[in-house]
Amino acid sequence: MVKAGLEDIVAAESSICDVDGTAGRLIYRGYDIHDLAENSTFEEVIYLLWFGQLPTKSELDKLTKDLNSNRALPKPVIDALHNYPKKALPMEVLRTAVSMLSMYDPDGDDNSIPASTRKATRLMAQFPTIVAYWDCIRNGRDLKAPKEDLTIAANFLYMLKGETPDEVSTKSLDIALILHADHELNASTFAGRVAAATLTDMYSAVVAAIGTLKGPLHGGANQEVIKMLIEINDPEKAKAYVEKKLAEHQKMMGFGHRVYKTEDPRAHHLRIMSEELGKRLKDERWYKMSREIEEVVFKQKGLYANVDFYSASVYYMLGIPIDLFTPIFAISRMSGWAAHILEQLSNNRLIRPRADYTGARNLKYAAITSR
Ligand code: ACO
Repeated sequence: MVKAGLEDIVAAESSICDVDGTAGRLIYRGYDIHDLAENSTFEEVIYLLWFGQLPTKSELDKLTKDLNSNRALPKPVIDALHNYPKKALPMEVLRTAVSMLSMYDPDGDDNSIPASTRKATRLMAQFPTIVAYWDCIRNGRDLKAPKEDLTIAANFLYMLKGETPDEVSTKSLDIALILHADHELNASTFAGRVAAATLTDMYSAVVAAIGTLKGPLHGGANQEVIKMLIEINDPEKAKAYVEKKLAEHQKMMGFGHRVYKTEDPRAHHLRIMSEELGKRLKDERWYKMSREIEEVVFKQKGLYANVDFYSASVYYMLGIPIDLFTPIFAISRMSGWAAHILEQLSNNRLIRPRADYTGARNLKYAAITSR
């Protein structure tokens, strides 16, 4: 029997990421996400995902240098960004700019593992530039050249806001990037692997993944969460709002998960960050509303918050525009997509499942005049 949505179907062997939905555990290459969120950096996690182990100091220095020196976009890509309609969604812009970047990659159509790793490095470096530049361009702000001495998180905030971010903002974003970096065969990663398995190029596979992440049932959910919080706007009103939504059988964005049947371990860290950022800003509305909503949804539906629920208030309190929430998810997940595409390429077989045909059979063609 076909399982709708391929639920619980094992479609690949992978040594990158393990999700234990019953125990609520997330493992990158053998390391627990809690350990990495508390002790690591996003750059280290990229190395871990791509090369299978935590880097030595010199390995990390080399990757960091490669990432930081590849942040600039080719001029024709910047010119194209200026020509996009100002109302274009940042995820549309990211998808389109990444597709364009492939035409400027010095490795061309070389699909070898070394060339694909270099392409992944450039993409990883250029994603934040595209997202930050698009926000500047659509709002008429000057573009800041990327700073090579800043981390991915700090440089992104710098290019976005035009000033070097404080430590708390940088650390918060860095942890969020670690938490979103990979998640086994989630929909966008699966899309990327399916594309890569045809032996298309890294860019085409990443474009497929970006388009898939954009949907509100996947990465797009974090934007819907903050819209809901803004609509409620008052912790006192949260309970009644959620009860009404659930009574109308509406979906609560940021809740539920195909794999986790208990707390999403990533939500734990984002919840703490949401509380801390609220205290720092002396505005705990977003955190308090979120807690209230979480309680009601769990009581009534037994559903847990997923990664998108608390990331929404975290990004909002970092002063990030709402429609950049999903692109930030993409910046982080680019690391996981690349790891999976490289793994697919290193032991490839075309991914081509079957469908259980339920349509008509044995019909006879009738001329259009007699239909
Ligand atoms: N709000 C209300 N009810 C829900 C929710 C929700 N967020 N999620 C699941 N349910 C209910 C469904 O209505 C269904 O109930 P029923 O059996 O009475 O019809 C039951 O729980 C099972 O839900 P499905 O939609 O079949 O679960 P599925 O595994 O297909 O979907 C998904 C998982 C897409 C994440 C779903 O929970 C959802 O739509 N959540 C909201 C969107 C969201 O937050 N997406 C981000 C996911 S995390 C990520 O991609 C990074």
